[in-house]
Amino acid sequence: MSFPLRNLVVVVLLALTACVPPSSQPVGQRGVVAYDAPRDPHSFARPAEAKVTHVALDLIPDFTTHRMTGIARLSIQRALSADSIILDTRDLTINRVTDGQGNPLGYAVGAVQKFTGSPLAIALRPATDTIVIHYQTSPDAAAVQWLSPEQTAGKRLPFLFTQGQAILTRTWVPTQDSPGIRQTYDATIHVPAGMVAVMSADHVGEAGQRDARGLAVYRFRMAHPIPPYLIALAVGDIAFRPIGSRTGVYAEPSVVDRAANEFAEVDQMVAAAEKLYGPYRWGRYDILVLPPSFPFGGMENPTLTFATPTVLAGDRSLVSLIAHELAHSWSGNLVTNASWDDFWLNEGFTTYIETRIMEELRGRPYAEMLRELGRQGMQQAVVDAGGPAAADTRLHLELAGRDPDEGMTDIAYEKGAAFLQTVESVVGRPRLDAWLRSYFDRFAFQPMSAAYMLAFMRQSLLTPEEAQRINLEQWVYQPGIPANIVPVRSAALAKVSEQADAWKIGGATSALQTANWSTHEWLHFLGAFPETTPVPRLAELDRAFRLSSSGNSEILEAWLQIAIRNRYEPAFPALERFLTSQGRRKFLTPLYTGLAKTDWGRAMAMDIYRRARPTYHSVAVNTIDQVLNWKQQ
Ligand code: BES
Ligand code: ZN
Repeated sequence: MSFPLRNLVVVVLLALTACVPPSSQPVGQRGVVAYDAPRDPHSFARPAEAKVTHVALDLIPDFTTHRMTGIARLSIQRALSADSIILDTRDLTINRVTDGQGNPLGYAVGAVQKFTGSPLAIALRPATDTIVIHYQTSPDAAAVQWLSPEQTAGKRLPFLFTQGQAILTRTWVPTQDSPGIRQTYDATIHVPAGMVAVMSADHVGEAGQRDARGLAVYRFRMAHPIPPYLIALAVGDIAFRPIGSRTGVYAEPSVVDRAANEFAEVDQMVAAAEKLYGPYRWGRYDILVLPPSFPFGGMENPTLTFATPTVLAGDRSLVSLIAHELAHSWSGNLVTNASWDDFWLNEGFTTYIETRIMEELRGRPYAEMLRELGRQGMQQAVVDAGGPAAADTRLHLELAGRDPDEGMTDIAYEKGAAFLQTVESVVGRPRLDAWLRSYFDRFAFQPMSAAYMLAFMRQSLLTPEEAQRINLEQWVYQPGIPANIVPVRSAALAKVSEQADAWKIGGATSALQTANWSTHEWLHFLGAFPETTPVPRLAELDRAFRLSSSGNSEILEAWLQIAIRNRYEPAFPALERFLTSQGRRKFLTPLYTGLAKTDWGRAMAMDIYRRARPTYHSVAVNTIDQVLNWKQQ
């Protein structure tokens, strides 16, 4: 085919991509039921025609222009008849596309679509098995946050990190950005001398050797096929402290020792998870503590969990977050939601496992506190979604045309966990544990849908009577919380409730017995506050327990919500400090939402946000822009 003609084919293909959803593609029998890979509504890829199997990156991040420039060399697997491959991109500048031998390939970038970006269609010659894309990222690439030295702990060097989940990898890597299309990857990253690069992959070769430009070179390799949302990079003034033989922590030098102490139990966590669910298959398990603008609590990037510094409470009281990200090494990273409609398969299973790991470490009463607080989060999520009839209270969602972020609620996490807790209550732990282990073994490194998981559960875990008693279909496909949800009850939190009730009806603050309260007992106490509390009572509490200056980010955030509801002004300096010193979306959202409810609060929120917005990551900005109805000014 002559060159211009091939270009024409690509253009026609792009037009088709824009309007015709390809039918779902069977990826083969797996012995249970025929597995129809659900179509991913957030990707333009047509993997049955041609799919990416390996991504090789060679990138230079430029801390002055806030662009990464370089090459993505993609290995592809294709049907013989395929004359093009379609990738996902967003805000990328494509400079040149060739095959593995350097011969130019025709390509076309399609129109920009909301949330999903643009398809990049590349014409294939009959023998093309490699495509080489020369490209550059935009300074506004949504996955990437470029931090100035002032935004770091050390204040000496800039920093950059990426956040791929859910559909942001396409803003820095041109590939098929669907969780159902697994790819191995390797990368060569060139950084200014004195800076360190880390990725969600094994380090290979000698780190930091100089290239011809004098840049320090870091090489990585992920030999397991992973969904592309798990490709992750951070560059900065990064130090390392080992914890165990296969664990350790990366962070800025002034943070790394504190982090190593906070996470000292990580080896016990890995051992507990392995005992329950089988071998940890990713080699090392390290944790990178990021600067405070990291928009999430944690992100399960394989071999290297990314974590917020707000987890460093000093007393290891918030480390269930690490148990959660570690748990994703099974649920999420080994067995992965095939599309974001089944995000709950990642997060619900992981939340269930998180509390099982913590139960191994800290005992049953501790795990029960976590579970009960989780249930409170679930109930709140039902209210936030619009009540138990709301479609978004379903586990399996239909997110086509929406930002997959909208599915990121406690329904996925806590209703999802409650589903497994309810299954556990019917079949008992030994059977559920054995089944989960077989599920991870059998589907390791594969995508999973709710329908297929349920079929596997019916086939290999439940008797027909048990399946009926649980009512699988209602749990997964219907809104609301099924009546057969297994209750959870924490004796410790029940005692806190008694004290909270007494205090609420005027009991003396000095009568509160809080000396032995853990962080979770405090969170339960604060979570039980009514809509309004007299300001003098709050002042009393603040004086007694110094809540406004709590060094525990979760307790502080819960307290600040109460302060906002009651216009308790003595806490406002702490509120402003909190909103301007960290960018974790889970903390920002309720605080800005609370402020936005009143005129005085809204004015305060807008004033703070105007200054803080440039320091937040795009995913937080996205959410808070909506909360405050922010118009670019
Ligand atoms: N995978 C999620 C974070 C995520 C979800 C990022 C969806 C982008 C889109 C991660 O495992 C997570 O759930 N983090 C939680 C902490 C956890 C303890 C519940 C968070 O960041 O709050
Ligand atoms: Zn998670």
